Amino acid sequence: MTDTTFAPPIEYAYLITGVLFIVGLRLLGSPKTARLGNRIAAAGMLISLVAVLLTSGFVSWPILIIGLVCGAIVGIAGAQNVKMTAMPQMVAIFNGAGGGAAAMVAAAEFLTHLDAQSITPDVSITILLSAVVGAMSFTGSILAYLKLQELMTGRPIVYAGQQIVNALLALIMVGASVFAVYTCATDPTNTTPAIVAFFGAMAAAAALGVLVVLPIGGADMPVIISLLNSFTGLAAATTGFVLSNNVLIISGALVGASGTLLTLMMGKAMNRSVTNVLFGAFGAVATSGASSGASGASSGTVREASVDDVATMLAYANQVVIVPGYGMAVAQAQHSVRELADQLESRGVTVKYAIHPVAGRMPGHMNVLLAEANVPYPSLFDMEDINPDFPRTDVALVIGANDVTNPAARYDTASPIYGMPILDVDKAERVVVLKRSMKPGFAGIDNALYEDPRCVMLFGDAKKSVDALTAGVKRV
Ligand code: TAP
Repeated sequence: MTDTTFAPPIEYAYLITGVLFIVGLRLLGSPKTARLGNRIAAAGMLISLVAVLLTSGFVSWPILIIGLVCGAIVGIAGAQNVKMTAMPQMVAIFNGAGGGAAAMVAAAEFLTHLDAQSITPDVSITILLSAVVGAMSFTGSILAYLKLQELMTGRPIVYAGQQIVNALLALIMVGASVFAVYTCATDPTNTTPAIVAFFGAMAAAAALGVLVVLPIGGADMPVIISLLNSFTGLAAATTGFVLSNNVLIISGALVGASGTLLTLMMGKAMNRSVTNVLFGAFGAVATSGASSGASGASSGTVREASVDDVATMLAYANQVVIVPGYGMAVAQAQHSVRELADQLESRGVTVKYAIHPVAGRMPGHMNVLLAEANVPYPSLFDMEDINPDFPRTDVALVIGANDVTNPAARYDTASPIYGMPILDVDKAERVVVLKRSMKPGFAGIDNALYEDPRCVMLFGDAKKSVDALTAGVKRV
């Protein structure tokens, strides 16, 4: 006989949401379609929210409206006021909220099931997974936020026996979880030991979240935030199983999978394994043989150029490739860069932008900044596409980028960035580097590029230098 049972309407709403999330994620993959992707995913979220509110009977409308209004105010104010350079910590705090919510829902479900004495091992295991992963993600994300916001030191905090303490805590967390599941299954009427074990496991997970993030340097934080984000996804998906909620399962799985992929991609682009990011305490100690002095000055010979020298070089070039980095973000020079490019293009110079996957401090950092300045998308080239172009380039204009151009990554096996794919700026006819001093970038090492005879330095804040160059090009 044919089954004529239809799923309840809310399941169709969830299905539509799932499809919109997937389409949104797909569109987020390109700067050209990212805005639309974001809107489509947000529409999916709205559909689910409305569907849940209309169908669930447990809603207290006044409390819900107060919550919605408060959340919307915080969300809108946060998104409108956040500086581009502060985006990683905003993601961290939002991610922490997601993890915390998953942990709280799990705790509430545990107590409800315990009261009803209806907690089977499959349910208690799922609830515990959601609770511990959510708690770990919550505290880890809060610590990541504090470090990035410079409310505490951003340097890695290391101490003797750190790994042993972490291993012990992990053991307590797993032991308490197993005990909670066991007591629920064997003695459902005696709830106290199960409750103590449950919250003990959650507390150990929360402490572990803090301790795992402590030895991670501020600049490695985007990788960790992405990893914690994937944990939050996992916690949300398991909460979905606990609540038998399909949309939570779908969205949690999407967040978990995309967070994991992003973490791996960032690691690959930096030539670092996730284990190295987690346990390497990058930046805790001086990392390079080619170290800088106290002033940050390099020992080799570097050539300094004047604004007029560089402006002339740019104005008479056939092709200029702009290489933006973290310094462009700090100086907020993206609009000035666009003006310089416009000025050069009006003189018939071909201008391209070379985007390294980990330039800046978060995925897509340069793309977002340049999009904000309305730089046309076809002018942006990924590393693999632009590298073959450098030998045909007259001037590579490096604006606040450092590590992503360091040729030591190709040959210096002792360098912490050895093996990291870089932009081949040293293959261009001339290289001009805009930065304020000889101080190193994120990896804390000198850049061999600066001693290359084809390279000149233009010292100063990137925005001021680029504005001066635009004026200089106009004078040529
Ligand atoms: P960095 O190597 O960090 O170099 C940035 C340079 O910008 C610094 O040397 C600094 O030199 C200069 N700078 C800072 N403020 C400036 C200003 N106002 N005007 C002009 N210059 C300024 O940056 P990068 O080349 O973009 O490389 C990114 C690094 O971050 C890589 O090592 C990457 O592995 C790491 N990282 C990236 C990510 C993601 S997802 N993007 C995540 C984690 C880690 P001065 O102080 O001399 O001016």
